[in-house]
Amino acid sequence: EKDVLILAIESSCDETAASVVKNGRTILSNVISSQIALHTLYGGVVPEIASRKHIEKINQVVEEALAEANVTLDDLDAIGVTYGPGLVGALLVGVAEAKAISYAKKLPLVGVHHIEGHVSANYIEHPDLEPPFMCLIVSGGHTHLVIVKDYGEFEILGRTRDDAAGEAFDKVARAIGLGYPGGPKIDKVSKEGNPDAIVFPKAKLEDPYDFSFSGVKSAVLNHINRCKMQGEEICEADIAASFQKAVVDTLVEKAVKAAKEHHMDKLAIAGGVASNSALRQAMKEACEREHIQFYYPSPIFCTDNAAMIGVAAYYEYKKGVRHGWDLNAVPNLKL
Ligand code: KG4
Ligand code: ZN
Repeated sequence: EKDVLILAIESSCDETAASVVKNGRTILSNVISSQIALHTLYGGVVPEIASRKHIEKINQVVEEALAEANVTLDDLDAIGVTYGPGLVGALLVGVAEAKAISYAKKLPLVGVHHIEGHVSANYIEHPDLEPPFMCLIVSGGHTHLVIVKDYGEFEILGRTRDDAAGEAFDKVARAIGLGYPGGPKIDKVSKEGNPDAIVFPKAKLEDPYDFSFSGVKSAVLNHINRCKMQGEEICEADIAASFQKAVVDTLVEKAVKAAKEHHMDKLAIAGGVASNSALRQAMKEACEREHIQFYYPSPIFCTDNAAMIGVAAYYEYKKGVRHGWDLNAVPNLKL
C-alpha cells in the first residue's frame, strides 16, 4: 500500500506547531515554536498575544516541518489541523493556514479534536498500542478519564468539576512564587521537598471517576496565609511536594480503579501533566502491582505538539473523515 503523508498543524494555545507524519505512526518532523517566554511576563497565556504570535510564526513553522521531513507540499496526502477546543483566535490561525494549503494544493482537510491528539501521542512510541485501553488525559485545560474504544472513539468515565489538573499546578506555582508555567517548576522543586510534610485534603465526589482540584488549591492558599499570619517560615519545596502528592495520588487511584473495573489491561496517560515525573513514577508502580501495561509519551509529545495531531488525523483520514471550507475553530468542542 502507498504511504500516507500528512502535514499537521496545531495552534490551540501558546505553541505554534507543525509536523509531517507518515502512515500515522512515523514522525518525519516535529517543529514547535513556543511562546512561553512571552507569556511568562504576564504570568499566564494572554489570548490576544497568542493569536498575533501564531500569525507571525505559522508559515515559517510549516516550512520548517516540510524541510525537516524532506518533503514538499506536492508529496502530501492530506492536511490535519486542530480545530478545537482551545483559544478561538489561536485556533483560527491554524485552521486558516490548513484551509489555505488544502485549497491551493487540492488536498483533503481533516479537522482534529485537540484531546484526541493528546491521546494519540501514545501511538508514536508504542507501535504495539491499539485500542481498547484506558486513558487519563491531564492537561492545562482538561482532565478526562476515558475508555479509548477505537481510534477516535471515546467513552468518557469522568472529568473535572472545576480546575483542570494542569491549571491547579499553574495556580499553586503562582501562589508559592514559582512563576509560569507552573507544572514543570513544581515538578522540579518537589524533588527537594518532603511530600508528607503537609497533608492536603483530597476531594470526595459522588461520581468515583470525576475530579476536583479547586479544594486542594484552596488548601494550599490557606496554608500559605496561615503560615504568614503566624510568622512561620514557608517551605516552598515542601508545599510543592505535598500538593503534587495529593494530586498524583488522586489521579493514580482513579485511573487504576477505572482500568480494573472495566477489565482494561492497558492504561495510558496524556497531556502536559503526563510529563510530571512523580505521576509517571507512581502510575508505573501502581500498574505493575495490578499487572496493567502502562503507556506514556516522551515529555515532548505530552505537551502541545503537531505530531500527535498528525497521528490522530491519520486515523480520521482512514475512516473517511473530510472537512469542507466551512471548517471553523470551535473553542469548546466536545469530545
Ligand atoms: O497539554 P498542554 O501542553 O496544553 C493544554 O492542552 O492545556 O498542557 C499544559 C499544562 C500546563 O498546565 C503545565 O503546567 C502542565 O501541563 N505541565 C506539567 C508539567 N509539564 C507541563 N504539570 C506538571 N508537571 C509537569 N512536569
Ligand atoms: Zn494540549
